[in-house]
Amino acid sequence: MENQILITGASSGLGRALVEALSGDGARVIAVARPSKRLEALKALPHVQIEPLDLGDTKNFEVWAKRVAQDHGPLKAIVHNAGIQHTRRFRTQRTLILCKRSP
Ligand SMILES: NC(=O)c1ccc[n+]([C@@H]2O[C@H](COP(=O)([O-])OP(=O)(O)OC[C@H]3O[C@@H](n4cnc5c(N)ncnc54)[C@H](OP(=O)(O)O)[C@@H]3O)[C@@H](O)[C@H]2O)c1
Repeated sequence: MENQILITGASSGLGRALVEALSGDGARVIAVARPSKRLEALKALPHVQIEPLDLGDTKNFEVWAKRVAQDHGPLKAIVHNAGIQHTRRFRTQRTLILCKRSP
């Protein structure tokens, strides 16, 4: 399929913004995230189809990928954007000790 793009992490943030922008530009978008109402809501956008998947579920990934390839056909691009972020304070107790030790 021409102009068909698969986006992971499509249910929020950067992924969701990309889905909205590409859909608005007329691209066909396959939106991927774990099953949820916010993923379902993307179906209201033009040319957007959803394919729920927990990317942590490696056991079922191959079956899912084969089915998606069969159902949707070739992709022009994949935006593998899904992720989580753990932010820690830079100045931890350990970094403070190391700073005090340096000359
Ligand atoms: N925002 C920033 O400042 C920043 C900076 C550096 C890097 N990044 C990276 O850029 C990407 C997007 O960031 P964001 O701020 O837009 O993040 P976000 O709003 O938290 O969105 C993360 C997306 O990943 C999906 N996701 C998380 N775990 C998943 C799983 N196990 N299976 C399937 N989908 C999963 C979430 O969907 P569900 O939870 O609905 O499944 C959601 O759609 C992330 O990889 C992030 O680490 C962001």
